[in-house]
Amino acid sequence: MMSSSLATVSYIGAIILFILSLGGLSNPETSRRGNLYGMIGMAIAVLATVFGPRVGTSGLPWIIGAMLVGASVGLYAARKVQMTQMPELVALMHSMVGLAACLVGFANYIDPMASLNLSSAEKGIHEIEVYLGILIGAVTFSGSLIAFGKLAGKIGGKPLLLPGRHFMNLLGLLVVIAFGWQFLHAETISAGMMALTVMTVIALLFGIHMVMAIGGADMPVVVSMLNSYSGWAAAATGFMLNNDLLIVVGALVGSSGAILSYIMCRAMNRNFFSVIAGGFGSGAGKPAKKVDGEAQPAGEVVSISAVETAELLREAKSVVIVPGYGMAVAQAQHAVNEITQFLREKGVNVRFGIHPVAGRMPGHMNVLLAEAKVPYDIVMEMDEINPDFPDTDVSMVIGANDIVNPAAQDEPGSPIAGMPVLEVWKAKTSIMMKRGMATGYAGVENPLFYKENNRMLFGDAKKMLDEVLVALKSQ
Ligand code: TAP
Repeated sequence: MMSSSLATVSYIGAIILFILSLGGLSNPETSRRGNLYGMIGMAIAVLATVFGPRVGTSGLPWIIGAMLVGASVGLYAARKVQMTQMPELVALMHSMVGLAACLVGFANYIDPMASLNLSSAEKGIHEIEVYLGILIGAVTFSGSLIAFGKLAGKIGGKPLLLPGRHFMNLLGLLVVIAFGWQFLHAETISAGMMALTVMTVIALLFGIHMVMAIGGADMPVVVSMLNSYSGWAAAATGFMLNNDLLIVVGALVGSSGAILSYIMCRAMNRNFFSVIAGGFGSGAGKPAKKVDGEAQPAGEVVSISAVETAELLREAKSVVIVPGYGMAVAQAQHAVNEITQFLREKGVNVRFGIHPVAGRMPGHMNVLLAEAKVPYDIVMEMDEINPDFPDTDVSMVIGANDIVNPAAQDEPGSPIAGMPVLEVWKAKTSIMMKRGMATGYAGVENPLFYKENNRMLFGDAKKMLDEVLVALKSQ
């Protein structure tokens, strides 16, 4: 078994590795190293905890047994999950952190050893930690489960806007505060458990209500917000267990998730509180309900073949590729890279435009393009590439929809009005590669399909890109 000083040194080492890991993950070129630091840090943290002074030898077989079960489930899930299912898996994992915080909180409260030898002030602080830990944990648990359902398409993306929902939330908060007071002054364990149970039920309902009220287009913010909550839930667990490592790691996850939520809000041009208030975007992948009198987008839809697409690309001097969720579904990133290489060898200036919420998780497109070995220096962010569209010959949209929807700029009444988008229609010709006329995640009609300079290349992105490549090579 480890001495307590060795365990402390290991914890400090793990914390440093986690900070280095976060730093590494902020850039695609260093992200592999960042991941490695994180994995080593986590291995050290687990070993130092399991073999540290706080776990007696009698508990060890239980812990090792539980770790074997957990590791097997984790390995199975990691091998089986598709890249497009990652956001759901992450949401499910967040819910586990929330559940763990709740269970640790209840166990801690009924464990007489946890508050043994505490002065009355220390006992009060300990109980506040338990109450807050379970509160954050329960909201994270139920909210993440609903987010999992929405991302997996098991629950519709349409926001559930109950009448008087803000009043209900406020009432819930007041009841939670009142029961918190009762909990801190409970004379017996059973009275305390009663207050804790009522608060847990309210927190679970609040988590469900909060995420159910979020519209499809705001899901990116909610995913990162729940990521942040899971960090705070872990930090609260750290306080309950007096574990400094868990407190620091929880705070790192909590604050980086909060920063990510802020970045997402800016990317969507949304205010954090209006996201929580809900209702942005109307449905998941289904056509948005037409508002009475809403005009059908003017113009007609013109389709194009793979051979004609290849001709346009070959004649172009500059091409901007905009990938979206459909590229991930079709696993078309390698075909995209092959076309990119071919065109670059022929002297075409090919670049990529990445929207901050393209796909279904932060950095989704960057990960796929990096996997296919697309050079980092031609992958641009939205703000960098938008001014260049008027000088672009062909913008090629691969399985993206909401992130290139001009309605966000032109239609003040649109559910996504105000969301910054990639202005692909400003190129000489835009080509939309998708299977049909379906809407994107936010469920909003896209007038781009009907623009005069737009062409639709209908079909699965991978299949169509393969055909384009064959045509390019044979021309
Ligand atoms: P979407 O707007 O969802 O559009 C994707 C399009 O891909 C669909 O319209 C679909 O049309 C097409 N598609 C699907 N499978 C395809 C395939 N095999 N081949 C070719 N096309 C295919 O995606 P986006 O433009 O990337 O925008 C992202 C959306 O997701 C935003 O609304 C964003 O708010 C939301 N969201 C993002 C995140 C994060 S963090 N990135 C998290 C949750 C939600 P067809 O069916 O006609 O082919």
